[in-house]
Amino acid sequence: MTQDEMKQAVAEAAVERIRPLLNDDTVVGVGTGSTANCFIDALAGVKHLFAAAVASSEATAERLRGHGIDVVDLNSVSEMAVYVDGADEFDKHLHLVKGGGGALTREKIVAAVAKEFVCIVDSSKKVDLLGEFPLPVEVIPMARSYVARELTKLGGMPVYREGFVTDNGNVILDVHDMEILDPKGLEQQINNIVGVVTNGLFALRAADVVLMGTPDGVETLH
Ligand code: 5RP
Repeated sequence: MTQDEMKQAVAEAAVERIRPLLNDDTVVGVGTGSTANCFIDALAGVKHLFAAAVASSEATAERLRGHGIDVVDLNSVSEMAVYVDGADEFDKHLHLVKGGGGALTREKIVAAVAKEFVCIVDSSKKVDLLGEFPLPVEVIPMARSYVARELTKLGGMPVYREGFVTDNGNVILDVHDMEILDPKGLEQQINNIVGVVTNGLFALRAADVVLMGTPDGVETLH
């Protein structure tokens, strides 16, 4: 299987996994990225089985609407059965690094609301230690240099993602060479820097299940 075929396979597996949760009241949280796009396309096939979706980015909202799926504001939703999204890295504890597409803050908010977080990835995303992929940090623009200095003190090498503005009007620092030995601790530590909106570590709210596409098929990891 090619990487694209693996993404397609996990997207279809995710639809099958969430199918029992779907009814007239179900709201599905939907992530951002190329794997999430495969999921959106597969979800379109069962759009008659659920009420609406909450999108983690403007791009995802547009793709969902393009399939005729109703997209609602998270503030109008009191309960969300499931959130499905990709990741840039995951470890054996199902801790994730996300935000390669820059949607990390909305992704983290939607994941926080969902009862179950189903992460869909191909096998290239599995790592022993998080941090090979530069850790995205969303920052209020005026705090960019200050936050970069603080991230350097934590041992990382922040790089400004030039020309990129998040859906929330903020900027991204991608932190290279960060040794992530304590994902939960580091997630909290970075969030405590004034000017940080959020960071791409999903350890405090890890995935509940990872569906991983491999050349031999889809593996389910808990
Ligand atoms: C976007 C994300 C994505 O889930 C992550 O970047 C993975 O994307 P892809 O499925 O394209 O590899 O966090 O902010």
